[in-house]
Amino acid sequence: MFEPDAAIGAQAEAELEPLVRAVAAAQKERARRLAQRRQDGGEISRQVLGCGFARLHAQGADIDSLAATAAPIVELVRTRVEAAQGAGEAITPQLAKAWPDREAHAPLWAAARRLLHGAGAMDAVKDYFGADGSKLRVLSVVVNRPGQSWNSALFRDMDIETPSTAGFHIDTDSACVLKTVIYLDDVGPDQGPFGAIPTSHLWDHDGPDRERRRAHAKSSFVSRSAEHRRTFASLSPPMQVKAAFGGDIPEDSQECRELLQAEARMTGPRGQVNLFDPEAIHRGGLVQAGERVALIAGIRAVWTSPDQEST
Ligand SMILES: [Fe+2]
Repeated sequence: MFEPDAAIGAQAEAELEPLVRAVAAAQKERARRLAQRRQDGGEISRQVLGCGFARLHAQGADIDSLAATAAPIVELVRTRVEAAQGAGEAITPQLAKAWPDREAHAPLWAAARRLLHGAGAMDAVKDYFGADGSKLRVLSVVVNRPGQSWNSALFRDMDIETPSTAGFHIDTDSACVLKTVIYLDDVGPDQGPFGAIPTSHLWDHDGPDRERRRAHAKSSFVSRSAEHRRTFASLSPPMQVKAAFGGDIPEDSQECRELLQAEARMTGPRGQVNLFDPEAIHRGGLVQAGERVALIAGIRAVWTSPDQEST
């Protein structure tokens, strides 16, 4: 354990201060939108409002067409993940994920839009934020296999077992966005199902906790290296919070037990669409055996009047 160092702590808090201000502005705008939303939204948005997520299902033709247009990218990602596995190297996020360009991969974006419309996700985002519409803004393809660098051997300089809560986080941005994880194959308990903690999107949603967590994620001391841990331990106790905290929870703690017990683990078939508020504590892709192939899509609420545009 590290002794707090006042000088290191003061310097780190000075770095966090403008970061907190920047993320607080986005959070405030999101909160304003949520407060103004209409109460006549559909069933899916009501479900996400209440518990933080909803399990949807793509129509058969839509998932077939999405899988077909995604296949070349899936193959590319799978090949480089297999090469790392074969060489005994860690699988990094850069290897496991691809971000297909909106123009160069227009058919894939169109197939994703069609599927999300058909599953009810696009309307749900509009309803959720009381917006005039919604747009697909971010799309990535991910191939998860065992041995990923971001959820195994988290502390390079110490022999600490990776806790069962590894991967739990809230997203680092707080725009008017809901996200989806679309399964391109069946996902059982060993294939890293999407997991979320019910109602956690409402925890401390108007206090300073979330902005401090996000500021930490954007700071220069975000890793779990010895130096960064020392900096973190030198912060004042209320500032010692992270957006990506799952890997830091002791395995034998009450918090660990409670999170694991509460987690909804969304196993399901090819074509399942897990829609969630990224403010909820969530994780996924911690594969024990086999692989998980998924598309992750961010859907943003939009307003027709430019001065009402979400930030
Ligand atoms: Fe996330």
